[in-house]
Amino acid sequence: MSDAQKIKPVRKAVFPVAGLGTRFLPATKAIPKEMLPIVDRPLIQYAVDEAREAGIEQLIFVTGRGKTAIVEHFDTAYELEATMHEREKSLDVLAATRVQPGNLVTVRQQVPLGLGHAIWCARAVIGDEPFAIFLPDELMIGTPGCMKQMVDAYSQVGGNVISVLEVPRSDVSSYGVIAPGKSHGNLTEVTGLVEKPKIDAAPSNLIISGRYILQPEVMDLLENQEKGAGGEIQLTDAMAQMIGNQPFHAVTFNGTRYDCGSKTGFVEATLALAMARPDMGDEVRAMARRLLGL
Ligand code: UTP
Repeated sequence: MSDAQKIKPVRKAVFPVAGLGTRFLPATKAIPKEMLPIVDRPLIQYAVDEAREAGIEQLIFVTGRGKTAIVEHFDTAYELEATMHEREKSLDVLAATRVQPGNLVTVRQQVPLGLGHAIWCARAVIGDEPFAIFLPDELMIGTPGCMKQMVDAYSQVGGNVISVLEVPRSDVSSYGVIAPGKSHGNLTEVTGLVEKPKIDAAPSNLIISGRYILQPEVMDLLENQEKGAGGEIQLTDAMAQMIGNQPFHAVTFNGTRYDCGSKTGFVEATLALAMARPDMGDEVRAMARRLLGL
């Protein structure tokens, strides 16, 4: 069997959405952060659209208390649809919120013990398949989308594939950083991972962004994972243990990442996407010029 035949396709994606979203309080007291809209689509919708473009079929939401709006968003809304139909309004605008029956699974993270713990909560649904992870507050805009770029690379190399971005060296201390091995085009071998390194100790300026394709063995590592930085169970620590045992590569994302978990990143994304929209771009640019006094 050739290597390409041995590589199992990525059919499942985990969306960890059980975090508290404290940086957006009070907005996120009753509304999940992932439901905050960039223009007219909630953050979670952008991530789900990106997953579908990459061929992913099953969506697994790791939710917590107060997160039901996320699941409702992808459910049928009979009253709304019937009323819109009566008023002869097009339902096309809801098309992206439809999910094939059985393809949306929720699991509960009872206590937000960190990203690694959230992923581990999905272990029974993942079984023995490779899977993707999307952090919906990292908005990745590219053509094709970030996960599609990663799945294309994965179909060549298999194993584990994470997406990385180049940042100024002065910024590395806020992120997970890779130690790079050999590079071919946008694909770099990963020889190590360090969470929030000091600038002098950082092995590169390539930071881990919010998209991953991982092999199911990571679940066993998470099961036995001690708490790491911030007293949370860190995904980076479990991934680091897979290096050397399985292929591990990084894809440098060709596109733009907006950190919508921070307020300034959220505003930047809103402005950038509004300006890029054919239906409102001109108006928004004129408004921005007026506000800047230009
Ligand atoms: P963040 O670090 O952005 O945390 O989580 P947060 O709670 O969402 O937001 P702040 O920092 O309090 O404002 C990154 C991703 O991991 C999920 C979050 O929902 C988010 O998508 N997460 C984090 C969980 O699902 N469970 C956790 O225990 C922690």
